Amino acid sequence: MLADMEEPPVLVGVRTRLRSWRADDAPAIHAACQDPDIQRFTTVPSPYRYADAEWFLAHHVHDVAAEGGRAFAVEALGEPGLAGSMALLHARPEPDRGVVGEIGYWTAPWARGRGWTADALGVVVAWAFAERAVDRLELLIDPENAASRAVARRAGFAEEHLDPAHVLRDGSVRALLVHGLHARDRG
Ligand SMILES: CC(C)(COP(=O)(O)OP(=O)(O)OC[C@H]1O[C@@H](n2cnc3c(N)ncnc32)[C@H](O)[C@@H]1OP(=O)(O)O)[C@@H](O)C(=O)NCCC(=O)NCCS
Repeated sequence: MLADMEEPPVLVGVRTRLRSWRADDAPAIHAACQDPDIQRFTTVPSPYRYADAEWFLAHHVHDVAAEGGRAFAVEALGEPGLAGSMALLHARPEPDRGVVGEIGYWTAPWARGRGWTADALGVVVAWAFAERAVDRLELLIDPENAASRAVARRAGFAEEHLDPAHVLRDGSVRALLVHGLHARDRG
């Protein structure tokens, strides 16, 4: 599906394994993205159709790679099935800030509450700092998204400030809490 240079590595954490997306993930993506919280707190389409999962696999993965990021499918170690999505959405140099990356994620409802998202986030954070020369990582989280704010805290991100009118990838504007983590703070 991807050119060799875009093909992400397999990354393994304590509880999760992050791999590249496959065409046969479409049914599990489609099922997970029926979840109201995924539709509310991420930029996936709503309603979410099967064609949206196919579009994600055919285009989103490449778009992310073109922006210096990588998109991973998350599996739990020892549990079959797609647990979620974890992506370095982009990584680019910014004036006075070094290379700044943004991470986005969702986890299928059946796979929540087991610490898998926090584990997978920690894996991508470590990989981005070590392998992608990223200086700073950000998470942009709706203030009402208590679950995602807890995941961010668990992974070591600091809640920094509210961006009152953040423009998302789909062009919509939302008030979002900026969470940040610097490579230098991880020693
Ligand atoms: C946010 C989301 C990814 C959390 O996934 P999860 O697998 O339940 O998270 P984990 O099991 O790894 O939990 C990590 C921490 O969050 C806490 N947490 C999880 N759900 C929570 C909730 N609803 N309220 C408060 N804390 C919550 C856990 O207790 C845990 O904290 P701890 O380590 O201090 O015990 C999941 O709810 C989701 O996919 N939501 C919809 C999409 C979304 O919001 N994406 C993020 C957009 S910014």
